Amino acid sequence: MNDKTLLLEVGDRSVRLTTPPGAPNGHGPESESEPESDGRIYFWWGLTAAALALARELVARGDLADRRVVELGCGLGLPGVVAGLEGAQVTFTDAKADALVYARQNAGANDLPRDRTAFEVLDWVHPATGQRFDFVLGTEILYDYNMHRAQLDLFDRLLAPGGTLLLADRRRRVVERFFGRLRDSGFGGTTTDYNLALPGEPAHKITVFAWRRDPEKS
Ligand SMILES: C[S@@+](CC[C@H](N)C(=O)[O-])C[C@H]1O[C@@H](n2cnc3c(N)ncnc32)[C@H](O)[C@@H]1O
Repeated sequence: MNDKTLLLEVGDRSVRLTTPPGAPNGHGPESESEPESDGRIYFWWGLTAAALALARELVARGDLADRRVVELGCGLGLPGVVAGLEGAQVTFTDAKADALVYARQNAGANDLPRDRTAFEVLDWVHPATGQRFDFVLGTEILYDYNMHRAQLDLFDRLLAPGGTLLLADRRRRVVERFFGRLRDSGFGGTTTDYNLALPGEPAHKITVFAWRRDPEKS
């Protein structure tokens, strides 16, 4: 099987996204897969409706020009690509180097300038980065309760003062739990619901969270 290229409408933009063999429309975390040697399943090849929702939200916000953005668990990198098209400087990250190969290809296919993009292996549990960002993006990355502590710590390390977390996910108990913990640690913000479908797939209800730390509570 070969790679497949999707053309996705995001606001008034068309975004070209190449997906690997076996993921024609991208399978979400429900799809069957074998765990890797560490017992985990990464699903980096799966494009999710959450990625499309966040991409649309980024265009609707219109406040990314010249901002520093990092995408966590980027997989194929759709939100990061759209952030780049909106004029941001984008660092794409994932635990899987294979994901970054596709994210890099997708950034190039959409003409993101090379000197305004970076691609880094970053594991939420052992993050090696000293950089700070104005926006931290993540879609469908909150599915594992065991990762929440590491993710909360990571957000604190990555966000510049006054920075914004932009996360999108299906509204599930594990996601509600995460945002409860985030609220307890002094974050708050807005939520926006989307009901949308990837090409050839049923619609999903997705919530986009735009949250930042309340300065009174830092
Ligand atoms: C469900 S996929 C979502 C991919 C993409 N964000 C999207 O919504 O289309 C989860 C992503 O998180 C990455 N991931 C899983 N565990 C990770 C970890 N410990 N550190 C960094 N990335 C991880 C996977 O490789 C995968 O790309």
